[in-house]
Amino acid sequence: MPQDLSEALKEATKEVHTQAENVEFMKNFQKGQVTREGFKLVMASLYHVYVALEEEIERNRENPVYAPLYFPEELHRRAALEQDMAFWFGPGWEEAIPYTPATQRYVRRLHEVGRLEPELLVAHAYTRYLGDLSGGQVLKKIAQKALGLPSSGEGLAFFTFPNVASATKFKQLYRSRMNSLEMSPEVQQRVIEEAKTAFLLNIQLFEELQELLTQDAKDQSPSQAPGLRQRTSSRVQDSASLETPRGKPQPSVLSRAPLLRWVLTLSFLVATVAVGLYAM
Ligand code: HEM
Repeated sequence: MPQDLSEALKEATKEVHTQAENVEFMKNFQKGQVTREGFKLVMASLYHVYVALEEEIERNRENPVYAPLYFPEELHRRAALEQDMAFWFGPGWEEAIPYTPATQRYVRRLHEVGRLEPELLVAHAYTRYLGDLSGGQVLKKIAQKALGLPSSGEGLAFFTFPNVASATKFKQLYRSRMNSLEMSPEVQQRVIEEAKTAFLLNIQLFEELQELLTQDAKDQSPSQAPGLRQRTSSRVQDSASLETPRGKPQPSVLSRAPLLRWVLTLSFLVATVAVGLYAM
């Protein structure tokens, strides 16, 4: 007997879900090991992802392949992420936020699907929104504690769904709407494959962020080769060094330029020796 789409999706993505939970960035996050720098990077990526996802959802809001899942009031995250971006990056956030290559790949796929294969959009909406309503709630509490954020929820609007009274009940409704979509077995199979792709795009995004953070930490030590800022686009460069939220000072030029620091130290030593020799 053919399976309901909701069950088929849950079953087919079980393995890749475990994989997502075990990505280093996520494992650290679950242990409360998340820095402001890492949190800002991931939230900025999510901002780009949701802008693209919700643009494609709006395009297909009346398309029967998606219409039953159109819940803008309950689910859409763009406005919440805009609030979070302003909190974390300040008033000029639109110009300042990073846009990493893996995020760009994810965004590209979302636009392809929305424009060319809208019957697969359900896979992307499922992967993000049901995930946010499930594990996302745990991650919110962890972030609040680890980053010392106020319980009022400032900086964490993304994780709050004011128009969803019960996440459990809403997920049930969402699953029944997914199951009501008219879908041939062939399309259902493609949707399942696309959901796995959506998970993989998330995994790649987290892996890349972890790499950027690790490289950035190495760059703080003078003996290392240039990393994050030199290797990625300028938008990553600018923001990846913003370790502090709005209001706190940025790292000084010297702490950002180890080579300059060494040159100055060396010059100082040479000058000291020269003065010593002159005095003799
Ligand atoms: C630290 C990482 C994560 C944790 C702790 C976590 C935890 C959970 C939990 C507890 C559930 C509820 C399971 C249930 O109701 O049976 C869930 C469901 C879900 N998660 Fe995650 N998750 C994580 C990462 C992710 C990621 C990265 C994604 C995808 C981007 C994701 C997508 C989903 C989806 C789509 C569901 C709904 C499954 C269904 O009911 O069909 N999760 N997650």
